[in-house]
Amino acid sequence: MAAKLMVGNWKMNGSLVANASLLSEVLAGMGGKTCRAAVCVPAPYLAQAQALLAGSALALGAQDVSAHEAGAYTGEVSADMLRDFAVRYCIVGHSERRQYHGESDVTVASKAQRALAAGITPIVCVGESLAERDAGQTEAVVKRQLAAVIHTNGHCISEIVVAYEPVWAIGTGLTATPEQAQHVHAVLRAQLQAATPHADRVSILYGGSMNAANAADLLARPDVDGGLIGGAALKASEFLTMLKAASR
Ligand code: PGA
Repeated sequence: MAAKLMVGNWKMNGSLVANASLLSEVLAGMGGKTCRAAVCVPAPYLAQAQALLAGSALALGAQDVSAHEAGAYTGEVSADMLRDFAVRYCIVGHSERRQYHGESDVTVASKAQRALAAGITPIVCVGESLAERDAGQTEAVVKRQLAAVIHTNGHCISEIVVAYEPVWAIGTGLTATPEQAQHVHAVLRAQLQAATPHADRVSILYGGSMNAANAADLLARPDVDGGLIGGAALKASEFLTMLKAASR
C-alpha cells in the first residue's frame, strides 16, 4: 500500500489573507514528511492556492465538481475548469452535499466519472447517519453508496480514493473508534476487491472529527489509509501533527 494520504477539507472557510498564512505555515512545517498530503480549498481560491503550492509536496484539491461536462449550468464548476488549476483531487459526495444539496448516489457517481475523465482523482465520500447506524444499516448504506460509483466507473474504480465519513462524526467531536472505522473500511475494501484486481491501489480514508489526538490510533488500523480532515485542517499546528502521525 502507498504512503498514507492526509487531505484537509477546508469547507466554506478561509479568505485570501487567512489562506496565505495557513498555507505558508503548513508548508514551512512539512519538511521531511513522507505521507501524501493535499488541501481541498473553496473554488474561488484555487488560483491562489495553486500559486502558493506550486512545486511543494502539498497537492491541490477541490471540494466538488459538476456532474455535467459544460454548458448552461449556472454556478457550477466543471472538471476541465478544475484541471486548468492543476487540481489533483476532488471531493465528491460529501455528506453535506448529499444532505443540503440533494445529491443522489447516481449524481455522485457521475461527478466521480467527470473527475476521472479530466485526470483528477475523486475522493468519494460514503457514510451512514446516526439513525442508520442505530438501525444496523451501516454496511448496507456505505455499500449502496459505493456500488453506484463502481457501477458507473467500471475498471477505472481502482483510480479513486474512498473516504468513510460517518455523518454522526462530522464536525461533532464524536469520532468513530478505530475498531468501528476498521470494520467499515474492511467492508469497503472487500467490495472494491470484488470489483477490481487492483483494489489495493485504492486509499480508504477516515473522516469525522479526526484530530491531532486521535489520528495515530485510527491510522494504525490496517485498512485506514489516511484521513479527510475538516476543522483540524484549519489550524496549521494541528494539521502538521496529523501529517507527522501519518508519516510514521
Ligand atoms: P471534521 O470534518 O473533521 O470537521 O469532522 C470532516 C469532513 O467533513 O470532511
